[in-house]
Amino acid sequence: MKILAIESSCDETAAAVVENGTKIISNIVASSIDIHAKTGGIIPESAARQQLKSIIPVIDKSLKDSEISLKDIDAIAVTVGPGLIGSLLVGVETAKTLSVLWKKPIIPINHLVGHIYANFIHQTIGSTTPRFPAIALVVSGGHTDLVFMKGHGKLKWIGGTRDDAAGEAFDKTARLLGLTYPGGPSIAYTAEKFKNKNIKTKIQLPRPMINDNNFDFSFSGLKTAVLRTVKATKNIEKKAPELAFEIQEAITDVLTKKTLKAVEKFKPKSLLLAGGVAANMRLREKLESEINKSKTKTILFIPPPKLCTDNAVYIASCAFYNFKKVDFQNIDTQPELSLRN
Ligand code: KG4
Ligand code: ZN
Repeated sequence: MKILAIESSCDETAAAVVENGTKIISNIVASSIDIHAKTGGIIPESAARQQLKSIIPVIDKSLKDSEISLKDIDAIAVTVGPGLIGSLLVGVETAKTLSVLWKKPIIPINHLVGHIYANFIHQTIGSTTPRFPAIALVVSGGHTDLVFMKGHGKLKWIGGTRDDAAGEAFDKTARLLGLTYPGGPSIAYTAEKFKNKNIKTKIQLPRPMINDNNFDFSFSGLKTAVLRTVKATKNIEKKAPELAFEIQEAITDVLTKKTLKAVEKFKPKSLLLAGGVAANMRLREKLESEINKSKTKTILFIPPPKLCTDNAVYIASCAFYNFKKVDFQNIDTQPELSLRN
């Protein structure tokens, strides 16, 4: 089965064709990130305008690249939320129109559930497909959640952030350091400059809730602590690499510790890492090392960085494994959708 998926929840306009939930036939992503880098963050109206410009060329290119004819597309999948209303509308209304014109079933997808399915793509799995039960850590720009998956479509939220998301913590602290948007890659890049010096940092940022007996997170205190440090620092440009290093350590320490705690409790067969922050090398490294050290038999899956950040490949995969056709008239944007039931 070949599914054409459309993703437009934020600042990426993406379309992909995926076969049987695992094989990428085409994958096109247009990003308006350069425009947002100039303003230091996303302006929703401007993101929606870019979506409008890109959507048809992106779908066109995705179909052309796939080298298959329209009659071989079995269904259309589309992200309905969460995300920015203007951006979502562009993808959802386009998908609905194409579904009517081309007489194809349409499948609405939760973007956050979608992220998890980057773990089912051939490039991630090699020869071992994730098995259930699984625990998924979903870390994106606006969400940080731990979910227990009994099977496809059987998700139980076990914890999440009480305030800022991990991605948001990267983005906001990067801004405080005067680094460019998006903050995650900027912090990671800047942190390397300090890491290469091979000296210990004297800066100690908090690891909020790290030892709490739950699966929740809180990252807003970290932002406040960084702000305090920035205000007390004379030459912030010089100190930025060391601060970036400690910010990355703090965020990845908490994410790793809480995820391992979930693994110990639920003893899943697979641990699935998902969302833009999953592209972070330090997080990948720490999770890998902690899983190896632990006595669990849990197998850790980590998608290639390009499949972690927003794209339509995982939306198509999610639609394949959760195929439920819905009347197009009942499909609407759901900007507030989440993983919390
Ligand atoms: O999943 P995603 O691409 O978009 C949303 O659904 O939000 O996630 C975007 C987030 C941003 O906060 C960005 O700073 C973060 O993912 N991110 C990273 C890295 N690449 C992207 N955070 C840390 N390290 C990275 N390499
Ligand atoms: Zn995302």
